Amino acid sequence: MTEFNFFATPGLYFGAGKLALLPALIKHHGSKVLIITGARSFLNSEHWPRLTRRLEKEGIEYIHDSVQGEPSPEDIDGIVRSCRGHAVGVVTAIGGGSVVDAGKAVSAMLTKNESVVHYLEGVGTRTHDGDKRPFIAVPTTAGTGSEATKNAVISRTGKNGFKKSLRHDRFIPDIAVVDPVLTLNCPSHITAACGMDAFTQILESYLSVNANPMTDSLARGALAVLGDSLIKVVSGRTGDTREEIRLRTKIAYAATISGLTLANAGLGAVHGFASAIGGMADIPHGVVCATLVSEVTKINIETLIRTDPDGTALKKYKNAADLLDPSRPSASAVEGACRLISLLEQWTDQMKIPVLSEYGVTNKEIEHILKSTGQKNNPVPLTREQLSRVLQSRL
Ligand SMILES: [Fe+2]
Repeated sequence: MTEFNFFATPGLYFGAGKLALLPALIKHHGSKVLIITGARSFLNSEHWPRLTRRLEKEGIEYIHDSVQGEPSPEDIDGIVRSCRGHAVGVVTAIGGGSVVDAGKAVSAMLTKNESVVHYLEGVGTRTHDGDKRPFIAVPTTAGTGSEATKNAVISRTGKNGFKKSLRHDRFIPDIAVVDPVLTLNCPSHITAACGMDAFTQILESYLSVNANPMTDSLARGALAVLGDSLIKVVSGRTGDTREEIRLRTKIAYAATISGLTLANAGLGAVHGFASAIGGMADIPHGVVCATLVSEVTKINIETLIRTDPDGTALKKYKNAADLLDPSRPSASAVEGACRLISLLEQWTDQMKIPVLSEYGVTNKEIEHILKSTGQKNNPVPLTREQLSRVLQSRL
């Protein structure tokens, strides 16, 4: 068996209603907490006043701050500055992937005096030593899996824009509270984008050249659980609230597993594109992944059929198809892989995934995007011409 290393969230509290545990979990780490949320949805829900009442009852002092969209270095530095002198014992982030990333970065930067920009991969020159405040992640969307990863994505858009990571093995949240009830109010287009990000992360880490037996096992399990849950939720075919929670629990599980597998196996060309496009255009990460995963999978499979038809990668694509749709097991690797292409094309269509031009990406940007697109751990090397074709097909 292959040698591997595996890093995971030490404390994972998963299931409907688990948010109720949060005050006790915070108290375990200190009597003063910094809570970071997004701008609106959680604050406007019944969960926020309930949580603050419970914190007050437990004698926990809290400071609240919020972030809107993907955090910039200035967002992180601003929150860290406002906490100086407050002896924050623990940081909690409640929100989508961007909010969780913001909390992760703030918990890491509360122990430093410089801007986060100096520690970003490919931007700064300093190496973070991993010293941080305890961090509790509470995702309210099922997507990035940031509650299980060791990096926080920080971005600046515009001409000299970037989308880079603050990363350390010790930045994996100390605790993740994954309560699928929190995702109930998530609008359908956000559920689609986030869910497709999670799916892409599972598929890319399963196919990664750096995958290991443990990430493979987790990825296969998550694909089987994800099945047709996402498409049912996005298309509003869930029936009652109980069924909606049941399906959203499956998606939330897949999202958390996607964080674990990506942190330990890496990703592929879809996420290579996502880093490049994310630094250039104001387009949600989930949308980039959702719009490109079908075409990248297609080009990977076509290349593998030509160059390595009996290899592991093609068999894994077949396994993915069989796990997502077990009703018709594939007779061969090629047949299964082709079935996966059709399934993803159907999903893209049924979930009405937007194309890149809806966010202002045009033909003119393609060369620029390709210059900074890496292929990460893609199962097969793609040529520049193939990558360009993928982008053209989703403009
Ligand atoms: Fe992602």
